Amino acid sequence: MMDIKQLKMSTFDDALNHITDNIVLGIGSGSTIELLVPKIAEKVRAEKLNIIGVCTSTKTAFIAKEHGLKIVDINDVDHVDIAIDGADEVDSNLNLIKGGGGALFREKVIDTMAEKFIVIVDETKEVAHLGDKFKLPVEVDKFNWLLLARKIEQDQPVIAMRRMADDVPFITDNGNYILDLELKERLDPYQLHEYLIHLIGVLETGYFLDTTEAVIFGTQDGVKIKQRS
Ligand code: A5P
Repeated sequence: MMDIKQLKMSTFDDALNHITDNIVLGIGSGSTIELLVPKIAEKVRAEKLNIIGVCTSTKTAFIAKEHGLKIVDINDVDHVDIAIDGADEVDSNLNLIKGGGGALFREKVIDTMAEKFIVIVDETKEVAHLGDKFKLPVEVDKFNWLLLARKIEQDQPVIAMRRMADDVPFITDNGNYILDLELKERLDPYQLHEYLIHLIGVLETGYFLDTTEAVIFGTQDGVKIKQRS
């Protein structure tokens, strides 16, 4: 019986196979990616690969630089070849909820920009419907966050809570707050995203729809890969 960390790490060989010479690599965020970064650095060193990395959080960028990877600002590249990232939920269409670490905006920029977006998760992240297990993170401006939370609760069957980090509000890399939406019933992700994204003060939602090329699942029965059909 593998523990969660072992399940996450069982996806690494397949993820690393996507990393080839002369690419711009999007490096995601979260505990899975933080374990993967040293392995990427090892591969780059051993095979003398020319890789330029762009990172979806300041934390990942810090770790990647510490491991000797070449990391540049997203504005210094004009494309991303491959992005590898984790997820909080994955449904059968390979749609995702992300943002458990609060990095959803930069993740969306880089993962969407990537020609190939690869997700690595342990099997506990698989759900029948997005929102079944995880709250939907939404990044919002600090200025009107409470008005937004009230409006969203009025308009949708959700509970909107501002994310806290210990006793203080969690602040994203962009200086904003996160509202975590608990969905009281199964909602259409496309419709909810469309509603939220037009509200003044919403920067992004944690729905990643129609962007994933493949999900590599670490399961107790071995690694399973689902490709977008
Ligand atoms: C960060 O904001 C998230 O989207 C992460 O990618 C997601 O939470 C996966 O994290 P773990 O690898 O820690 O499960």
